[in-house]
Amino acid sequence: MTFKLTVANTENLATANKPIPFIDLVPQFQAMSAEVLGAVEKVLTEQKFILGEEVVAFEDEIATYCDARFAVACNSGTDALIIALQALNIGEGDEVITSPFSFFATASSICRTGGTPVFVDIDPESFNLDVDAIEEAITPNTKAIMPVHLFGQCCDMEPIWRLAQKYGLYVVEDACQAIGAEFHGRRTGVLGNVGCFSFFPTKNLGGAGDGGMMTTDDPELVKKLKRLRVHGDAGQYEHLELGMNSRLDALQAVVLRLKLKRLDDWTTARQENARRYGELFLQENILDAISVPKTQPHLRHVFNQYCIRVKHGQRDHVMQQLKARQIGCAVYYPKPLHLQTCFKHLGYCEGQFPQAEAASKEVLALPSYPELPIADQSRVIESLVMICRELHVSNPNHHRRAA
Ligand SMILES: Cc1ncc(COP(=O)(O)O)c(C=O)c1O
Repeated sequence: MTFKLTVANTENLATANKPIPFIDLVPQFQAMSAEVLGAVEKVLTEQKFILGEEVVAFEDEIATYCDARFAVACNSGTDALIIALQALNIGEGDEVITSPFSFFATASSICRTGGTPVFVDIDPESFNLDVDAIEEAITPNTKAIMPVHLFGQCCDMEPIWRLAQKYGLYVVEDACQAIGAEFHGRRTGVLGNVGCFSFFPTKNLGGAGDGGMMTTDDPELVKKLKRLRVHGDAGQYEHLELGMNSRLDALQAVVLRLKLKRLDDWTTARQENARRYGELFLQENILDAISVPKTQPHLRHVFNQYCIRVKHGQRDHVMQQLKARQIGCAVYYPKPLHLQTCFKHLGYCEGQFPQAEAASKEVLALPSYPELPIADQSRVIESLVMICRELHVSNPNHHRRAA
């Protein structure tokens, strides 16, 4: 343990009331600003902005990082998912099985191709697809499974592979939150037919704007992925399919190339933050009020988010109390996808995916960005411990009644 927790009293907290942001991207830039500005200046000097050498170099580096044969850059994680599905000919009438507990783009990308998202519930510990629930959702129209490696932890891939093989389905990884995460030593991006990544600024590898990437080992598929990101153009304005305009900028590529070199150090820092949270919440004996993410030896969790669950219906209260103490925190995601208005036509109703619905009421993400100062983390922990103890004092039986 690198620091000892002393639970502060109320006066201490009042004096230490400096806001703690949920995420702060500034220190990351400050630590590499000269390099980034130099690389950006080079692009501006050369005036080669779209795709080009820098993007190709970045694609090669991502392919190496993920141990994939090919990587194809595009404009966002959302586009990566849409292009990947289109490349696999998923469209009208096709069903894709995925999680109702994810970012909206997981399901909207399926709809954008004309396909239908088919949700199955999640496992309450990992927040990832409940692999035991997948098989009964498979129909003759099912074409693919889209596992989401939520918060930076890999899905349990082996049962997914078995089902994919048994029913002849594609696997499209939504690895948007999970670059560098591993399943038995294999990285996301090579755990299905196509892996899709996001470089949204708050991701573990975040650009200076939007960006995305697809990885694959399939030499035929890669040609199609490349065509689809440029209007289906096979070259010389010969359009084989209806693609989209989804090219990565060289400006993004140079920033992301510099950041990729530091990604593993940042991942280690995120893992350390998670370890400290876990150890100290256990030590402070508040695990009757919250539960912490579990890591498993065969999964390299990269902690894009550190999400606890707040038990006994107290999540919103705890969040409010943290915010009152100027501590940033966030809910990913407050409404599961099957209950979103725009998916009403899919015919799902409340109660259908109880684990996803419970998670949406209990999850709370705490600050865990790599540069989070230890003093700030200490204050997050002290505050949460105090809030949980106050909960307990005001209602010592709350866990018994809720049980
Ligand atoms: C799980 C998941 N899927 C898809 C996306 C979409 O990525 P982007 O925002 O780059 O379009 C995100 C990003 O927020 C995500 O977290």
